[in-house]
Amino acid sequence: MDRLTLDVANAVSFLPQNSLAGIEPEVLSARDVLENGSGAGNDFLGWVSLPESIAEGDLKRIEDEVARLKALARKLVVVGIGGSYLGARAVIEALGGRGTDGMEVVYAGHTLDEAYYRRLMRCLEDEDFCVVVISKSGTTTEPAIAFRMLRSELERRYGREGARQRIVAVTDGAKGALHGMAAGEGYPAYVIPDNVGGRFSVLTPVGLLPIAAAGFDIRSLVAGALAMRTQVKSTPMSAPLQYATVRNLLYRSGKKVEVMSSFLYDMHYFAEWWKQLYGESEGKDAKGLLPYNLSFTTDLHSLGQYIQEGERLMFETLVKSTGKGGSLTVEQASDNSDGLDYLCGKSLTEINRCAERGTMMAHHDGGVPVIEVGVDKIDEASLGELIYFFEYACGVSGYMLGVNPFNQPGVEAYKRNMFKLLGKPGV
Ligand code: PA5
Repeated sequence: MDRLTLDVANAVSFLPQNSLAGIEPEVLSARDVLENGSGAGNDFLGWVSLPESIAEGDLKRIEDEVARLKALARKLVVVGIGGSYLGARAVIEALGGRGTDGMEVVYAGHTLDEAYYRRLMRCLEDEDFCVVVISKSGTTTEPAIAFRMLRSELERRYGREGARQRIVAVTDGAKGALHGMAAGEGYPAYVIPDNVGGRFSVLTPVGLLPIAAAGFDIRSLVAGALAMRTQVKSTPMSAPLQYATVRNLLYRSGKKVEVMSSFLYDMHYFAEWWKQLYGESEGKDAKGLLPYNLSFTTDLHSLGQYIQEGERLMFETLVKSTGKGGSLTVEQASDNSDGLDYLCGKSLTEINRCAERGTMMAHHDGGVPVIEVGVDKIDEASLGELIYFFEYACGVSGYMLGVNPFNQPGVEAYKRNMFKLLGKPGV
């Protein structure tokens, strides 16, 4: 398969000559540390071999579960936050939100805002719904509060037994409050492997179950990831290693921000997933590129000015589709009062591509190094490739940076303060 392309020419042009070759031994050694499991955080490397270790039975069980849920409701509330939320949403939104015969997925547990929950409960008012609750620790406050609310609503409507049929848990196999509840109530439960951290868990039931429920092909997603896994195993300087190399060189040359941009509207949540992946993995020990997400052309009319002429602190990673599109065209109008006749017959895809090319040229000329990651089209297979590409590059990059890419000690600070303020027993 292997359809992903990587173009680093417009980033390398900002680096001293031969710097790529100079750093190659370092990147290969970081890859070996990742593959041998000899680095920091090596008890969280289960994701590395996930694409080849997902069994037919695992996929079948998820597909059967989805068929059972679909017979009960057309709406699914997916409860989770961070790594237990963003991967599923990234793929579902990138594929347009709902596939053929898919459930309508709505999200909870990723915010504490009361207005959001009032709206959510209103939108569930007249409809049957099921809940997939996802939390590795099983104790994260945001999803726990949302789940309590949704479970009460299900129990009020269908009784305790009816609620049991409509709830699926994805959590630790042995510990945590959610594990205890699932065991006690008899909810169908899926295990998040101990050695897979939240932000690397999209290819476990954390991502696969909601993605399948939304009507998308999880087998193609896994096959895409496997194609990228095969590339990293068979090619010394594989695409993820090249990306890791260039972004590290740019960081060392003084760039502090990496912007992920895309002209594909539905890729917004993919970049949100990437933002968490890199932000939580690298932002520690007072180091790390700040990952930032921009949707173009929308954001060209807000941050376009800064990118073009503001402080030169960033480089850009563009995710693009290279395949054909284009049945929606600019039509002939009754007159040319809007001056758009020169676009007649051109498709929106063609116009968007010109905006993309023009923007990348302008950014490069304005002093912004540009890395381009292309796939021929956005589908399950290419998203699987992209996911594994960015995950693998993240592991290698983190080791090149000299941090443990698989912990997130800083995330605890806000929780400690919040629990104290809320008077949580024992804190
Ligand atoms: O990547 C991570 O580890 C975090 O973003 C977690 O996924 C997030 O905090 C949610 O944790 P949990 O799945 O334990 O509820």
